[in-house]
Amino acid sequence: MQNVENKVIIITGASSGIGAETARRLTENGAKVVLSARREDRLKELAAEIGENAVWMKSDVTSPDDMKALVSLAKEKFGKVDVLFANAGIMPGGSMSELKVNDWMNMVDINIKGVLNSMAAVLPEFMAQKSGHIIITSSMAGIKTVPGNAVYCGTKHFVKAMLESFRAESIMEDTNIRTTTIYPGAIKTELLNTIAPSETKSMVEELYRNVGLEPDAVANAVLFAVSQPDNVDISDLTVRPSKES
Ligand SMILES: NC(=O)c1ccc[n+]([C@@H]2O[C@H](COP(=O)([O-])OP(=O)(O)OC[C@H]3O[C@@H](n4cnc5c(N)ncnc54)[C@H](OP(=O)(O)O)[C@@H]3O)[C@@H](O)[C@H]2O)c1
Repeated sequence: MQNVENKVIIITGASSGIGAETARRLTENGAKVVLSARREDRLKELAAEIGENAVWMKSDVTSPDDMKALVSLAKEKFGKVDVLFANAGIMPGGSMSELKVNDWMNMVDINIKGVLNSMAAVLPEFMAQKSGHIIITSSMAGIKTVPGNAVYCGTKHFVKAMLESFRAESIMEDTNIRTTTIYPGAIKTELLNTIAPSETKSMVEELYRNVGLEPDAVANAVLFAVSQPDNVDISDLTVRPSKES
């Protein structure tokens, strides 16, 4: 596919759901992928399924060193990095009044600092080569606010605000770095496993059961953004079930 062939794409959160499906879709279209997550067995299995166009590294987005090591791996195996798909995230849920402070801090560490760690690792490459593409998975919770998920909403609004500001900086600095924020609605993945049993969890599970999309809906959106000509920036993509308000 146009502008996808031979691109080297780092994917965080590649061990399941949206990240894993996007790795499949991109490599089916000629890209090479560097798979990142903590579950080694899943990464190994996916890399074996994809074949020579995939490499993997057990890595945690909360570690700046792990993110730098991913870039080194990409350069060592494939010679460069063209795209970062910063997709790793968790959604433990819960009202603020429940005071699940550990969950709040984990969301900040993974959904916010994890994104920043991966960006900090690729930006020196992108600035030096004067090209690159940063794609980040936000959420419908990055566009609207919902009760029962306040900190998650905050982390996903962060992605929207940060990447949109960065896009303007890249234009001013003439670095040719493209940016895309993806806002998925209900997608059937393992994300709900991170929510503790509660009324909120049951409600969300029902929504996903009734209208949730398969992860390929988001994988197709990422492929669309990557495949555009260099002078086209698909800055925002909302992908939700047609029956989700
Ligand atoms: N599913 C939805 O309805 C939906 C809607 C909107 C937005 N999203 C967003 O989509 C993204 C992908 O989630 P998903 O739905 O595909 O769920 P998922 O199947 O649970 O995938 C989450 C991924 O993030 C990885 N991850 C979590 N913590 C990590 C860490 N500290 N370091 C490295 N990797 C980590 C997980 O891998 P390991 O556990 O192996 O590390 C896994 O690969 C998330 O950012 C999520 O917020 C999902």
